[in-house]
Amino acid sequence: MISLRNIHKTLNGQKVLQGINLEISEGETLVIIGRSGCGKSVTLRHILGLMMPDQGEVLFEGQNLMGLSEIELIPIRQKMGMLFQNGALFDSMSVGENIAFPLREEGKMTEDEIQSAITEALEMVNLGGQQSKMPAELSGGMKKRVSLARATVRKPKLLLYDEPTSGLDPVVSDSINKLILNLDKTLNMTNVVVTHDMRSACEIGDRIVLLHHGKVHFLGTPEEIKSSQDPIVFHFVNGISDASVATE
Ligand SMILES: Nc1ncnc2c1ncn2[C@@H]1O[C@H](COP(=O)(O)OP(=O)(O)OP(=O)(O)O)[C@@H](O)[C@H]1O
Ligand SMILES: [Mg+2]
Repeated sequence: MISLRNIHKTLNGQKVLQGINLEISEGETLVIIGRSGCGKSVTLRHILGLMMPDQGEVLFEGQNLMGLSEIELIPIRQKMGMLFQNGALFDSMSVGENIAFPLREEGKMTEDEIQSAITEALEMVNLGGQQSKMPAELSGGMKKRVSLARATVRKPKLLLYDEPTSGLDPVVSDSINKLILNLDKTLNMTNVVVTHDMRSACEIGDRIVLLHHGKVHFLGTPEEIKSSQDPIVFHFVNGISDASVATE
């Protein structure tokens, strides 16, 4: 479904991506892990076509995103949903208006259809009947769930998650993971999930990729990553900070 081929990207003079190669298959959940600042969010932005590589190419269903205009990217982006790292709900809009936003923007549904889509999306994230609440009235976990409802309301084929459980306690994190697994089953999507959290990664990932120094350092199943003897993988998986690894 997605191919990242030899992606290089320099930002502010810093070589962030240095030859990323990654194939993402339809229907799979791929988890991206790696230390803060290693380029996980930047990689997601390349998949969305929000950032273009300095070198290399990004293909979505065989189509090269390089060189497409903003208008040509619209139909491709409509097949993707994105859960941003900070949730990014519109504070001045109610929960229902937030969820309706991508549908109104698309302009294909009647008001009745939009209202039933909101109801359905909220039920899917266990927030049935909460459409008139304002974001300020919600807890962090509820905000993430509303963002999830907004990201899935157009039933995208591909859903990108940037840190869906960051800042949440372990119990709420676990409920978000279960929701991701559930949505995946009901909507039969392809998921790319960026996370710091190894427990989440192993729970939801079919495959896990560890980025390091702008490259794919490791790619494998949760079992393979947990049993890996590679020192960088081992340190990341076990949450050990090691000066020799950090300064390498
Ligand atoms: N728009 C931008 N302009 C300049 N530099 C950027 C931009 N976006 C990201 N960077 C830099 O690229 C590097 C990778 O950033 P990125 O946001 O991908 O990290 P990350 O792996 O998602 O980290 P975190 O886990 O903290 O979210 C960082 O050094 C960051 O400062
Ligand atoms: Mg990030």
